[in-house]
Amino acid sequence: MSLTLTRTDLLKEQNFIDGQWCDSSSGARYEVADPASGAQFAAVPASCAVDAAQATAAAQAALPAWRALPARERARFLKRWHALIVANTDDLAKLMSREQGKPLAEARGEVAYGASYVEWFAEEAVRSYGDVIPAQVRGKQLTVTKEAVGVVAAITPWNFPLAMIARKIAPALAAGCTVVAKPAEDTPLTALALARLAEEAGLPAGVLNIVTTSRDRAQDVVGAWLADARVRKITFTGSTAVGKLLACDSAGTLKRLSLELGGNAPFIVFDDADLDAAVDGLMAAKFRNGGQTCVSPNRVYVHDAVYAAFTQKLAARVEALRVGPATWEEAQIGPMINARAVDKIEAHVRDALAKGGRLVVGGKRVNDGVASGPNYYAPTVIAEANHDMALASEETFGPVVPLFRFSDEDQVVKLANDTPYGLAAYFYTRDIVRVARVAERLETGLVGINEGVLASEAAPFGGVKESGYGREGSRYGLDDYLQTKYRCQGGLA
Ligand code: SIN
Repeated sequence: MSLTLTRTDLLKEQNFIDGQWCDSSSGARYEVADPASGAQFAAVPASCAVDAAQATAAAQAALPAWRALPARERARFLKRWHALIVANTDDLAKLMSREQGKPLAEARGEVAYGASYVEWFAEEAVRSYGDVIPAQVRGKQLTVTKEAVGVVAAITPWNFPLAMIARKIAPALAAGCTVVAKPAEDTPLTALALARLAEEAGLPAGVLNIVTTSRDRAQDVVGAWLADARVRKITFTGSTAVGKLLACDSAGTLKRLSLELGGNAPFIVFDDADLDAAVDGLMAAKFRNGGQTCVSPNRVYVHDAVYAAFTQKLAARVEALRVGPATWEEAQIGPMINARAVDKIEAHVRDALAKGGRLVVGGKRVNDGVASGPNYYAPTVIAEANHDMALASEETFGPVVPLFRFSDEDQVVKLANDTPYGLAAYFYTRDIVRVARVAERLETGLVGINEGVLASEAAPFGGVKESGYGREGSRYGLDDYLQTKYRCQGGLA
């Protein structure tokens, strides 16, 4: 796949520290590969702790002036950045598709999605209100103000290379924080292009710093931030295992944490559901980004009475999905991110079939004239899924739909909640009393009711239980980057 950008300066292959584009202190680099073909097409710094510390020093030095700016001025910067992101949608989408593999139409959608957070937080920047508390005695005034947390380290995943970093950086900058960020090893280029646009929007040096690094040095960079008392907050999207390590390793300096971690989302189809709407919702939720999404339904529970009809309708839709490279305008499912991802999907499917699953659609790698490469997997439906299968308890993170049977509301809600995770859940029913009952009982941060598309810049995104804590988007998302100061002034009587 050729990478022809209108603006060639958006392909950056250096770190962005203190307003400068620079190599790693050791000069080490690593290659970025196209997941469609495995071919390497760019190289970026394999940074180490020294580079991480330089970024922290720059962010710390920039903090006082940035924090002291009137919120409206920070908002103006975010608005300029938003406009530049939108104006460069095509180039950003091409870069993202090339390094991540998602179809171009989906990548364009992600640019709009990520940009919407920047616009939202430009608007929220001017609304970080405090409080005046009625004093309990005469002569005192009690006020509460919100202040920027300080330097924030953002560690972002490969599945949404633009949206995830945008929805961390935008609220941080809006609140008056400065940022050091490490994009995922597989997808550093979109983040660097965003930094280029931030530079163009006039962001002062040091306010945003991007440090790229390879998988084997990631611990070095992140470890430097974890140990550094100047970094006051870590915001992370990724696996629960890594989230727990960050929680432990940041304890030494008691940093604030926002952790958006793994999920194991249930999707429930009750016997009174509108089956066509449920199939539409499942297609949208499950096959977004080829199933490589933390809110993607991982367990689909279908009532016995509608199991056969639902399976048939779903199978027809899944069979029709077009698998291919990002450059093919008709592609709906791109390659998986890398060989490890396809190996895991394959292992889950093999295990499910060995444990009594019935293959309805897919169930194999694809390597044909259109989808030609090592990382394609066919959209798959497995009927008669059960809870002994690995896919019932582990996130598959791929285009596989296991269909479980159920017969009773109580039973299915218990099954849905029987997981350490609690990010998203979905259910379809036409019974309005059941809507209230089930929504309340589901132990997740997000609930889709007759709806498969949940995320929006205006709504709080985040989980409970081992899916993490903190919220992104909405007014709650700004709170994650603010700390509360109480002032008590006496002698006023
Ligand atoms: C994620 O998969 O990490 C986020 C998905 C979303 O924003 O909807």
